[in-house]
Amino acid sequence: MSFKIGKIYKINNKYIEVIHNDDIFSRPISTGNGLNIIGSLNSYVSIPLFNSLEGIGIIFEQYEPKKDSQELFESNEQKDVVVSKIRLIGTYNPFKKKFEKGLDYQPALGAEVFSLKEETLETIYQSIIGKDEPELKIGTDLNYQNISVKANPNTLLGKHFSIFGNTGTGKSCTVSSILQSIYLERGRLQNSSETSLKTIIIDSNDEYSEVLNGLNEDKIEKISVEDLRISHKNLTFYELTQLLEEDSPNVLHYLRSAILELKSTDNVDEQVYYDFAELPGEIISEIELQNNQNQWNFIKGYCGHLINRIEGFLSDSRYDCVFSTDENSIINFLRSDKQLLILSVQTANDVLAIIAYQICKTIYSYKRNNQTEDNLLLVLEEAHRYISEDNNDVINNYYVEKVAREGRKYGVNICVATQRPSDVSHTVISQCNSLIVHKLTNYRDLEFIRNTIEYEDRNQIDLISGLKQQEALVLGDAFMFSSIARISDADPIPKAETPKIF
Ligand SMILES: Nc1ncnc2c1ncn2[C@@H]1O[C@H](COP(=O)(O)OP(=O)(O)OP(=O)(O)O)[C@@H](O)[C@H]1O
Ligand SMILES: [Mg+2]
Repeated sequence: MSFKIGKIYKINNKYIEVIHNDDIFSRPISTGNGLNIIGSLNSYVSIPLFNSLEGIGIIFEQYEPKKDSQELFESNEQKDVVVSKIRLIGTYNPFKKKFEKGLDYQPALGAEVFSLKEETLETIYQSIIGKDEPELKIGTDLNYQNISVKANPNTLLGKHFSIFGNTGTGKSCTVSSILQSIYLERGRLQNSSETSLKTIIIDSNDEYSEVLNGLNEDKIEKISVEDLRISHKNLTFYELTQLLEEDSPNVLHYLRSAILELKSTDNVDEQVYYDFAELPGEIISEIELQNNQNQWNFIKGYCGHLINRIEGFLSDSRYDCVFSTDENSIINFLRSDKQLLILSVQTANDVLAIIAYQICKTIYSYKRNNQTEDNLLLVLEEAHRYISEDNNDVINNYYVEKVAREGRKYGVNICVATQRPSDVSHTVISQCNSLIVHKLTNYRDLEFIRNTIEYEDRNQIDLISGLKQQEALVLGDAFMFSSIARISDADPIPKAETPKIF
């Protein structure tokens, strides 16, 4: 049902203002979510335009004009007048049942404003989906539990997306809910044939191992950090020098000679496996081979830092997955007909950064050479831990940023989940075309998001700090317009529940 709620008395290019009837808030209507007050903050309105179309808007601010506005209101003899500020979001065509963002015609001063019918709101959410195209239910409208908030899955999963929110607000559950919608029969993915999407989750908190248990066991691979294999064979000479924190040309000369010898090649970047444990001994041999005995000790002295660093990696079992293997678990997975790879990589941030770098490099190189293969989704959980903006670590964000910038061409898409969006590589975040934002309270993060999103969505930022667990502002290309959704239940939920202390 639709009710008249007032008339436009002020209009500008940013918003319109409406004077409400004085009985506006005494008309609760029943919705799927219990009783709803008409014309309340964040509710939707419809304004008839001259050509039988409807302008659709959202109330984003309300106030009672004080007595200093007497001039305007005296003649009305209304004491309890309420003014609503409305942001217009688009145009609805009731004949074609189609919604489009933006307005070609502005409503006129004095035009009547109505509450939006539930059916119309449903059709508006649906308008992001083309005829017979796949649709993904993300959740329900916050005020209307029966109305689904839908995403275009080809846009959401095909053009990178991010999930932000303070700790415990629902990010990992949102990732799980979306993956369950895609891979398990939850009825939330419609008009889609069986998916060929592959997904790799960098599960830095070891939360996801049970989340997709309903999926055929042949399709899932779970690898812990102890069993992960991503060989140093893939690192170029330059990348190795970054890792070893060595830039002295005199020292690098012996490192290069030793690697060439171990690889039995004349191209130091050739992807040939060699035993990393033999590298310190080989560097010493090269020093001895290329110099006379008087110089040995002196040269061994200034190569000492390099040798110590290599031995440090060799004696630290956390790096076994990088330096003791010729295998590559990521390539094995990409070549297999498995669909889901869960990498439980609970380890220190500096190790994680190297692992993430190697994973992104492997994916980028592999998909560039195998472009006809299935699409791949790379989920970067807790991304602030290993792709930070001010990355001063030994290895940088080069490949993850390359995947973010160019990956789409090769069918690689990323999902960045983080509680500190402003700390994550801005290049990566700026490539995300859709956002799901749970409650965030840090001013710097909110400002960062404000500057990332489109101008017309910025009013919505104020809502983010008041969201409850599982609620999120959804916006960007995959959604018809920015709105607050209650995300569909994840079942099972990821393991790390909010701890109970008492
Ligand atoms: N979509 C959902 N379905 C079911 N439960 C949810 C959902 N969203 C949030 N919850 C509840 O909220 C709790 C916290 O969610 P979650 O673990 O996803 O938070 P988070 O944002 O990933 O936190 P952290 O930053 O600490 O990883 C869950 O344990 C669950 O009880
Ligand atoms: Mg989480």
